[in-house]
Amino acid sequence: MYDVNKIREDFPILKIKVNGKKLVYFDNAATTQKPIQVINKIKYYYENYNSNIHRGIYKIAETATEKYIESKTKFAKFINAGSIEEIVYMRNTTEAINFVALAFGNEVIKEGDHILISEAEHHSNLLPWLWLAKRKKAHLDYIKLNKEKTGLDIESFKAHLEKEPKITAVFHASNVLGSINDIKYITQLAHKKNSTVLIDGAQSIPNIKIDVKDIGCDFFAASAHKMMGPAGIGILFAKKSVLDNIKPLFGGGEMVKQVNKYSCTLNDLPWRFESGTQNIEGAIGLAGAIDYINKIGINNIRKHEQNLLKYAFDKLNDINNLEVFGGNDEKNKVGIISFAINKVHPHDIAYLFDKEGIAIRAGHHCAMPVVSELSKEHSISRMSFYLYNTIEEVDAAVDAINKIKNKFNIR
Ligand SMILES: Cc1ncc(COP(=O)(O)O)c(C=O)c1O
Repeated sequence: MYDVNKIREDFPILKIKVNGKKLVYFDNAATTQKPIQVINKIKYYYENYNSNIHRGIYKIAETATEKYIESKTKFAKFINAGSIEEIVYMRNTTEAINFVALAFGNEVIKEGDHILISEAEHHSNLLPWLWLAKRKKAHLDYIKLNKEKTGLDIESFKAHLEKEPKITAVFHASNVLGSINDIKYITQLAHKKNSTVLIDGAQSIPNIKIDVKDIGCDFFAASAHKMMGPAGIGILFAKKSVLDNIKPLFGGGEMVKQVNKYSCTLNDLPWRFESGTQNIEGAIGLAGAIDYINKIGINNIRKHEQNLLKYAFDKLNDINNLEVFGGNDEKNKVGIISFAINKVHPHDIAYLFDKEGIAIRAGHHCAMPVVSELSKEHSISRMSFYLYNTIEEVDAAVDAINKIKNKFNIR
């Protein structure tokens, strides 16, 4: 049985008060809170075996190296990758996508080629491709939103595929709409046109079971901090056959087997892409986060989010002058609800929510093209849920909305 109150006990931060009220943390799409199990793993590392990896010939350095590799093994299993050769640790999703655009994109994109993304991408999955297209005098094409603005228009995707894009890069779950793309289908169609496929998994890694073998994508990028791990560590999955043909971007320690004054032999996968001292504590924390998710069960987390969504949509539907973006079909959404209250600026909404102890996000959500499509102010409010949120907290958000409406005399 899913016991949200028991889960909440694992998160020290959920006990704090904000403006005299119990914290309601509804900004999980920005970053998630960390359970004590993850915090303790990192603390234990610092207190018991802090040392550099891959190089020390002494006990604690060997332990650190083992734990770092164990973290990769866990992550590879978590997303069903072939082996740790396909898992490169980076700083975050942003760095992973930029790496692909620079190390892979620079080699394969030529003048006049097409690159395909969508209108609803986070800037992390837009700017690297925009710059690549500009560098190479290539075309950057955008899959349109559907008429209802709840997700992508699959006909627009198919039409763009006819231009045979060399690279297709799309989100798995949108950080603004919350909607989920059928990435297996997208990958299959793109592959038929020989397009290399990158999936931005920043918003799906916390709550959707990922199976990269089943999806078939070439690249999958994600961040540990969105799945209860620490910030500063992200993951690039790349198919071994693709990674084998990519040259490292950075030279430095631990990424070569042998160096002389005039040449070098690269290290094996994935180490050749991890030059310099890595985020060891980050990897250890990420392993803790995977253990935690596995203990609860990722499908249970998804179900819990869907229950919260359904409950929230039922309540929000009854409120006049409130607009919910991205549709209200909880089956096709992660726990994200973007909304607007007629005539109230999103920054005022977030400020007034904060007065009630409720943390939400307001603004352009680093996804300006889609937010501008949805809102004249180029700014919207967003609540985002995770495994520790409760029905009572949704009620508190609904109360906050009604209070704001009263304050602004909105019926
Ligand atoms: C869909 C999506 N892609 C990419 C990112 C970037 O993630 P990070 O800041 O961890 O690199 C985010 C962050 O919110 C996101 O929501």
